[in-house]
Amino acid sequence: VKIIITGASGVLGTECCSVFKEASVDVVCLTRESAWKIAQGRTPVELKEDTVVVHAAANTDVEFCEMFPDSCYRDNFLLSQGIAQACHEYRSKIVYISSAGVYGEGKSVPYCEYDDAHPTTHHHRSKLLAEKCVLAASNRNLVLRTGWLYGGSVNNPRNFVSRMIKEFQKASAKGTVLYSNVEQKGSPTFGRDVAKRILDLINGDHQGVFNVVNEGTASRFEYVKAIGAAVNSNVVVEPASAIAFERVAKVSPNEMARNWRSQEIGLPCMPNWHKSLVDYIKTLHPT
Ligand SMILES: NC(=O)c1ccc[n+]([C@@H]2O[C@H](COP(=O)([O-])OP(=O)(O)OC[C@H]3O[C@@H](n4cnc5c(N)ncnc54)[C@H](OP(=O)(O)O)[C@@H]3O)[C@@H](O)[C@H]2O)c1
Repeated sequence: VKIIITGASGVLGTECCSVFKEASVDVVCLTRESAWKIAQGRTPVELKEDTVVVHAAANTDVEFCEMFPDSCYRDNFLLSQGIAQACHEYRSKIVYISSAGVYGEGKSVPYCEYDDAHPTTHHHRSKLLAEKCVLAASNRNLVLRTGWLYGGSVNNPRNFVSRMIKEFQKASAKGTVLYSNVEQKGSPTFGRDVAKRILDLINGDHQGVFNVVNEGTASRFEYVKAIGAAVNSNVVVEPASAIAFERVAKVSPNEMARNWRSQEIGLPCMPNWHKSLVDYIKTLHPT
């Protein structure tokens, strides 16, 4: 099997490229321009029946997406629709990376794959529309709903953990505290763990919708505190309510998910979020 990765420079794409290469898989890491070429029917890579496209490219800026919906639906929905059509034509399987945020509002406990999706933002609506195209293109395709990702390059501003470590360093130098949202809840997830689970799901030829997150849940406050503790920061993290963080996008306070389908088919549990976080930070700050 050959795996083609869109969004290869992102948090998840970077982890996929390294995990797949380590597993001796034949990998092609695509640029943004190459991803669009596939969607426009001018594919720069050979698509075949034994090729899998891991489509991780997306506009992940939820606030930008809320302010510029045309751009959001172009990048997240139309790009995915074009890639789904091309893959259908060449009988290639797609692994579409979606978001646990598509579940939106409705529950106050972690969402399972049998829960209905009620997205509350343009970003999450665009991801859900893309999911539908991917699932309609072939019943072999996979849709993976993940969330609160970190990993990849420490210089990628979308890498939440490395960004927060810099915030801790700045706050320490200035002698200030950090405030973090105690109401927003999610499943902090290491991109490398997701990449490994993608390989499991491809190798098992699984299909349909799967949640793929680290086990356990946390509030943003608990997550940020755990990052501070892992870097031995002396900066105090204060709990703050959602109202303190002005957001254009009305993201559901519940972005938590549970890997129900993986459990049902007997895949091993994903690592616990706290363990993966601490292990990841050790790789950044070896002692
Ligand atoms: N980050 C999270 O917490 C999170 C949560 C839930 C779901 N997800 C999903 O997981 C996937 C990977 O996210 P990530 O965190 O790795 O994202 P990321 O770090 O923001 O990377 C996004 C990737 O997509 C590419 N891209 C951005 N806009 C594009 C466009 N208009 N056309 C083509 N490519 C474009 C970027 O390429 P350039 O280098 O050219 O910019 C980059 O390679 C996405 O589908 C995202 O929706 C992420």
